[in-house]
Amino acid sequence: MSLAIICPGKDPSSWIQAIRSIDPELEIQVYPEIKHPESVEAVLVWQHPKGILSDFPNLKLVSSMGAGVDHILTDESIPEHLPIVRIVDDRLTWSMTNYVVMGVLNFHRQITRYQTDQKKKVWDMSQPEIDVRVGVMGVGALGYDVLEKLDFMGFPVFGLGFSEKDDFKFPYYTRDQLSDFLKEINVLICLLPLTPDTEGVLNKELFDQCEPGTYLINVARGRHLVEEDLAPAIQSGQLSGAMLDVYHQEPLPQDHPFWEVDGLTLTPHIASVTNPKAAAPQVLENIKRLKANEPLKNVVNRSKGY
Ligand code: GLV
Repeated sequence: MSLAIICPGKDPSSWIQAIRSIDPELEIQVYPEIKHPESVEAVLVWQHPKGILSDFPNLKLVSSMGAGVDHILTDESIPEHLPIVRIVDDRLTWSMTNYVVMGVLNFHRQITRYQTDQKKKVWDMSQPEIDVRVGVMGVGALGYDVLEKLDFMGFPVFGLGFSEKDDFKFPYYTRDQLSDFLKEINVLICLLPLTPDTEGVLNKELFDQCEPGTYLINVARGRHLVEEDLAPAIQSGQLSGAMLDVYHQEPLPQDHPFWEVDGLTLTPHIASVTNPKAAAPQVLENIKRLKANEPLKNVVNRSKGY
């Protein structure tokens, strides 16, 4: 049995090292140098070429290198019976929450404004704090941690998810209550999984329902946002700005208008990068469970898309 690592354009060496340090015996093959496709029973993938998994006749497990699985689910050639698992890791959650907290605090304490003022030698003590009420769309492992930590820091928080939830610890809204949710908040964080249902959810119609001056943080997937709707919403003041980590096309093309939009803070999909050392144990644990015919961990529900 071997594990194939398939992550074109990404250096797999830290994954190989992390996996070997736990299980030196496991045979690892790295795409495109797959010499024995018939021995591959598990794959660890990030944006694999679509259709490639059918090269492995004995494949039994598809493991995502990250928390997101949209890059896997868009490959329609993957048979229904093949289990897909994703990374749910405290370290990944911690990084994501830190990034979001930074974005919220930056808005709350206006650090970007002071940086601009500093360049112009401006001393402006007006409005040292903006009152912040935070809404998190997507209340899975990542969204929940953001809610908990911001709540602990004293910010009013609100969650929105696409399914009904009983006994949620924080005020909770479903999609049909979107406009009520938006009325409560002035910072909107997107941590939804990308599914056909959530694609394009950050659009003009939603921005128009926000409190004027709402700040947007998108750390989920670029395709949650209708990109052409963002600059007009900022320029009209409907949004006071946005912090984006994800885009339709990555790397963000040199001629993309976002580079030039005032009020946008852009980062290159680094909000929460899976740490192979932290995540390798769960990849191997699932391979062990697969061999022992035991239930896998963090299995993706294909019909839900996460
Ligand atoms: C990163 O985008 C991930 O899905 O882990």
